[in-house]
Amino acid sequence: MINHLIENNQKWASSVKADNPDFFSELAKGQSPEYLWIGCADSRIPACKILGLEPGELFVHRNIANIVNTNDLNALSVIQFAVKNLQVKNIILCGHYGCGGVQASMGPKCNGMIDDWLESVRDLYSSHSEELSEIKDPQEAANALSELNVKMQVENICKTEVVQEAWSTGQTLEVHGWVYDISTGTIKDLEVSRSKA
Ligand code: CO
Repeated sequence: MINHLIENNQKWASSVKADNPDFFSELAKGQSPEYLWIGCADSRIPACKILGLEPGELFVHRNIANIVNTNDLNALSVIQFAVKNLQVKNIILCGHYGCGGVQASMGPKCNGMIDDWLESVRDLYSSHSEELSEIKDPQEAANALSELNVKMQVENICKTEVVQEAWSTGQTLEVHGWVYDISTGTIKDLEVSRSKA
């Protein structure tokens, strides 16, 4: 069943405490992460782990295909809290190659509710169908769409009222677009970082 997860947790908490007796009591006082991570829900991308960060260092929002729709109350609330309250200095939008959500948005609609969720990626695919159709390997084409999706989501983040306001008041805030390669465990910076309006 799943009792081993509770056991794993007890072992983990004990070993962390053995190394640093104050670790949890310090964390309980509050968080002040410098980074907001917005990534895909894919189980193969444990954000903290791949960045070498510890609890308390990364504020995280994940959903299928790392989408930030400008009317998504969930994502917008995360961005607002991260920027206004936590004053994170960096927002990292990280997509990944081999993304099932991105691949699904290139095929026929047959996934029910998820098709609605992926609508903006499907629109992006349509608007780039000519250049993407020149890529013969379907996997490569999907990866190219993953990159386009990251760039679009970075734009969406930059357009939010919260980010615009932060920049207009001189708050230090950078927005970055990255792609994670599950097959190598490495991140590629798409070099679309923005630090002003
Ligand atoms: Co994915």
